[in-house]
Amino acid sequence: MDFGLTNRTAFVAGASKGLGRAAARELAQEGCRVALCSRDEDRIASAADAIRDKTGAEVLPLVCDVTDADQVESAIAQTVNTFGGLHVLVTNAGGPPSGAATELDPADYRDAVERNLMSTISLCDAALPHLRTAADEDDHARIIMVTSVSAKQPIPTLALSNTARAGVQGYAKSLAEDVGPTGITVNTVLPGYTRTQRLEELAEDIQDETGQSRAEIEAGWADDNALPRIGEPDEFAATVAFLASARAGYVTGVALPVDGGRSKHVL
Ligand SMILES: NC(=O)c1ccc[n+]([C@@H]2O[C@H](COP(=O)([O-])OP(=O)(O)OC[C@H]3O[C@@H](n4cnc5c(N)ncnc54)[C@H](OP(=O)(O)O)[C@@H]3O)[C@@H](O)[C@H]2O)c1
Repeated sequence: MDFGLTNRTAFVAGASKGLGRAAARELAQEGCRVALCSRDEDRIASAADAIRDKTGAEVLPLVCDVTDADQVESAIAQTVNTFGGLHVLVTNAGGPPSGAATELDPADYRDAVERNLMSTISLCDAALPHLRTAADEDDHARIIMVTSVSAKQPIPTLALSNTARAGVQGYAKSLAEDVGPTGITVNTVLPGYTRTQRLEELAEDIQDETGQSRAEIEAGWADDNALPRIGEPDEFAATVAFLASARAGYVTGVALPVDGGRSKHVL
């Protein structure tokens, strides 16, 4: 299937490693020019070099902490100045710390909302004028938000994630309705347990708490899935590329789990 992504420009946040990096690589592979950001200059430059080497695409590394709205504004402006426009926005940031609801204090919740909800809103706010132009000139534009399976089925030890992601889902649904008439689609992608640095950190937390071995922890996660294994970043990235594509033109307002069947709700 031709995704129709050749010569389109994508901005992927939180992309020095993990799911963001895999999504940036997949979009580059499909023909996009890609701007990617993280907080660390060396890490993001190294990710950009690797993606450029593998795909031959034009890749722009940017240092940007997505919790800082001025940095977000500037990163989006640099992308548009370099590539001449913006067609696809992928919002993403690191996940918040683990903890049950009452183990955390209000400051932790505020940080999580800044990190995962407000960063999404800042990225969309900065990108929307350019996405509107792209949709006007080229028929459509795309927003894809990385959230978590915890948005549909809360995980008791991830209260911060459960809370902040629910806000993103509400924002995504509202935005999809608002910008639909302009030709912009807005969808969220909800990863289940996928092999990244974040998963390593979650496993360490559980190991410290329970004394379980790494193999036992992974088996516990895998056994909850219809497909009894941990996911790979490339599998997640392929879903992002589809939602970014011309072929996903009638899909908006959707919260799509990529979780090997971990979520058990009917809809
Ligand atoms: N992997 C999973 O199993 C899983 C499951 C459910 C949900 N998720 C969620 O999906 C998202 C991505 O997960 P992941 O596994 O890829 O995480 P990861 O391996 O920890 O990578 C996070 C990425 O985000 C960047 N980042 C973190 N904070 C940032 C900030 N404030 N501004 C800009 N960039 C920032 C990091 O780069 P720098 O450190 O260089 O800034 C890194 O590139 C997270 O929100 C995570 O909670 C993951």
